[in-house]
Amino acid sequence: MLFKQLAVPLASEVVDVDLSRSLDDDSFKAIDEAFNDRGVLVFRGQQITPEQHIRFSRRFGELEIHVLKQYLLADAPEILVISNMMKDGKPVGIADAGQQWHTDLSYVEKPSRCSILYAKEIPAPGRDQTYGDTCFVSTEAAYDSLDPDMKAYLGTLQAKHSYLKRPHIRKKLSEEQKQAVPDVIHPVIRTHPVTGRKCVYVNESFTTEIIGLKPDESDALIRQLCALCESERFMYRHKWRVGDILMWDNCSTQHLAVADYGPDQHRLMNRTTVAGPAVF
Ligand code: OGA
Ligand code: MN
Repeated sequence: MLFKQLAVPLASEVVDVDLSRSLDDDSFKAIDEAFNDRGVLVFRGQQITPEQHIRFSRRFGELEIHVLKQYLLADAPEILVISNMMKDGKPVGIADAGQQWHTDLSYVEKPSRCSILYAKEIPAPGRDQTYGDTCFVSTEAAYDSLDPDMKAYLGTLQAKHSYLKRPHIRKKLSEEQKQAVPDVIHPVIRTHPVTGRKCVYVNESFTTEIIGLKPDESDALIRQLCALCESERFMYRHKWRVGDILMWDNCSTQHLAVADYGPDQHRLMNRTTVAGPAVF
């Protein structure tokens, strides 16, 4: 097994691993350590069943069952389908999994540790250009770039996160689904549960308010922190191939799905979501 660095502050490719087989403890430990350190890992050329995807994901923790029940695989509800495809007049998965910068499930008390996405179909394969790339940034590198006074100030603040900040999500949810995701409050700077490194934990999709600031100051600070996190110097852009498995850390990174393809260009991904601890 070999690790190849893909960008400077984050992301490595793991070469020579077949994730359809169960990993021995030493291989898992090496992957787990690289993952905590690099925030994003990419495995190319994989061919896995839902069961194998679930088995690999469970090595990292308990799996979550997503609130959007209509997009879970019927015989494997740990798998959430992300797709723009239709079957019998109905979408087979979530078409917009996150076209704004975000980190998964920051709107719950215990956001997921990581998400693991497997590419089954990608838009217009075989062309020079790729479509439906996913971009990642390091919120750890964003924190490290701040000056000491700003680090100290931000360390005193907390922010509100709401799933309902995304209007298209709000429209789709039933009252019951809405009640299952009440707003939560997290520190603006969070500590990585394994490495102890500090990360900026404010994102464009779900952070609605910095507690204790006037609305215009709160909005301005959210904008400033999002702009910092989203900067190119902290970024890795993944160009998908069928058979890629990609996993990302939901504390030390943020991500965004690039929506540059049409409804006839099919994209189909299976995702598992690994549970994480309360934010601190
Ligand atoms: C997700 C997500 C990005 C993509 O699954 O959480 O943001 O490119 N997906 O599909
Ligand atoms: Mn996401």
